[in-house]
Amino acid sequence: MEDYAVFRTPGTIHYGRKAFEKVGVETAARGKKALIISDKVIQSLGFINECENFLLEEKVESVVYLGVESEPTDKYVEEALELFEKEQCDTIISLGGGSCIDTAKAVAVVQTNGGYIGDYMGGKKLAVKSPVPHISIPTTAGTGSEATDATIITNTTNNVKMMIKQPAFMPDVAIVDPYLTVSSPPTVTAATGVDALSHAIEAYVSRRAQPMTDMLALSAMEKIVGSIKAAYEDGNNISAREAMALGSLQAGMAFTNASVCLVHGMSRPIGALFHVPHGFSNAMLLPAVLEFSKEASISRLADLGRFFQPNTSNLSDEKATDIAVEAVKNLCLELKIPNLKGWGIDQAAFETAISKMAGDALASGSPQNNPKVPSKQEIEELYLKCYDYKFTSENVVGS
Ligand SMILES: NC(=O)c1ccc[n+]([C@@H]2O[C@H](COP(=O)([O-])OP(=O)(O)OC[C@H]3O[C@@H](n4cnc5c(N)ncnc54)[C@H](O)[C@@H]3O)[C@@H](O)[C@H]2O)c1
Ligand SMILES: [Fe+2]
Repeated sequence: MEDYAVFRTPGTIHYGRKAFEKVGVETAARGKKALIISDKVIQSLGFINECENFLLEEKVESVVYLGVESEPTDKYVEEALELFEKEQCDTIISLGGGSCIDTAKAVAVVQTNGGYIGDYMGGKKLAVKSPVPHISIPTTAGTGSEATDATIITNTTNNVKMMIKQPAFMPDVAIVDPYLTVSSPPTVTAATGVDALSHAIEAYVSRRAQPMTDMLALSAMEKIVGSIKAAYEDGNNISAREAMALGSLQAGMAFTNASVCLVHGMSRPIGALFHVPHGFSNAMLLPAVLEFSKEASISRLADLGRFFQPNTSNLSDEKATDIAVEAVKNLCLELKIPNLKGWGIDQAAFETAISKMAGDALASGSPQNNPKVPSKQEIEELYLKCYDYKFTSENVVGS
């Protein structure tokens, strides 16, 4: 690591059982009328009603935008912004998965700084004015977006999933309540849980890792490895949900300051072109990318291997690294994550898209933080390898 690093987080973080109740006081401290950005699933679960009641207790009015239907596009941002202005709101609450939180981040910044959300990509336009106060409440565990200064919005003109990162996108408040994740069906638990694991691993092996992020990434890996299967198998296991919610938050705090790497760089183009949910597209790439990178991050991946197999402390780092890679493959099998072919992506269409996807991955900047920095050709080869990648175990774990 370099001899200087900066570390950013939301100003206030509430976490733990019933943290959701704090939304009233936190919003009342910042405004009188909130726009709640959410989706219809979250509404059907009754969370919006609950939120409105917590707000009313503190005399805060609210209106609701429910247009988030899938991973966010620039269209949702425009629609929600229009509603915010028409209703003369002064604060934003995001209540949902990463898709709702990312939409809200974009609205909060564009409302005060103007322009098109894509203008902010790569720092072309800087958000110099304070954004609208934003209280983020995740219902998945998760993207960690409640604690990151990034937003991922699809440009509907060129089909690029834009990774936009500036300090102004950081929410003011994060409220992380594991009870809000209990209703997640197993597929959402698997996809979002592997996303959180990818964040923790990528933050830990990143070339930009620093002591503050190492501490959080290690804790996140330990929590997620120890609880992801339990949360997947029994959604009502509140201890497992709690560990996942906290692990996801810690992973978000780690990667926003250390960066994600090659998995996320390659994953976004798959999401944009083939509409694979973010967590699944990460999982489809994670084992092969770990195999590609492992020689460059042996001691770090060994720590991951020891979380999967706590009795391996007397093994060499090389062996513990192999255990990590095989354990991640096994996890994908156990969580019933398909490869790209199994998801139903047409092989010819995928192969045609590989060159554009590799270019878009490199343009995002994330691959450059990987412990082993890939060339464009190596990224193309990895996409090909992942298309029909077998997550089968080679029995390294425990052998
Ligand atoms: N900004 C960041 O730092 C960051 C980090 C990682 C991912 N992301 C982005 O986040 C998005 C994905 O977010 P996600 O994985 O949380 O999924 P999501 O927000 O797209 O939600 C997936 C589905 O789960 C449903 N859902 C959410 N919570 C639920 C609950 N408690 N019970 C039942 N159903 C529930 C949603 O309604 C939706 O149908 C992607 O666009 C990805 O690029 C952003
Ligand atoms: Fe992610």
